[in-house]
Amino acid sequence: MKVAIANDHGGYELKTKIMGFLKDDLKLDVLDYGCGGTQIVRYPYYAARVCQAIQKGEVDKGILICSTGIGMSIVANKFKGIRAALVDNSYSAEMTTRHNDSNVICLGGRCIGDFNAIDFLKRWFGASFEGGRHCISLGIIEDIEEKNFAGEDYTLPEVEK
Ligand code: RB5
Repeated sequence: MKVAIANDHGGYELKTKIMGFLKDDLKLDVLDYGCGGTQIVRYPYYAARVCQAIQKGEVDKGILICSTGIGMSIVANKFKGIRAALVDNSYSAEMTTRHNDSNVICLGGRCIGDFNAIDFLKRWFGASFEGGRHCISLGIIEDIEEKNFAGEDYTLPEVEK
């Protein structure tokens, strides 16, 4: 599987610690989209690189790391077709693949440490999307996305209280 990874200055250190695991243990074909150091950079550009690579079909999934993972996740979810999950625990790491079919995982480089990051990545890549009823929610997300990107109002159907 081809995977794009990118980070800002707050995520650089964690990236250097997980690269070997991604390539050697998970056997992923990893494309590194920067940044390559701890100089201050703007995280939205790095998130955009990874999301556009996914949109173009150049990679299957993406990993984004900033200090908290929050900024990266906010940016990534503004790209059509991107389902980015900010993950800070093992359960969510697995469930976001099984239920959300997330194609980007966002990690907080100054929040979780390399031991946890490796555990989350192992679970995220190791799980499979369950399909079934979860496709209904993904379809609703797509409807909302379509309307919002077209600049149209999303009409909420009758939903149970
Ligand atoms: C950079 O200082 C920091 O804002 C960034 O890494 C990220 O955590 C933003 O959400």
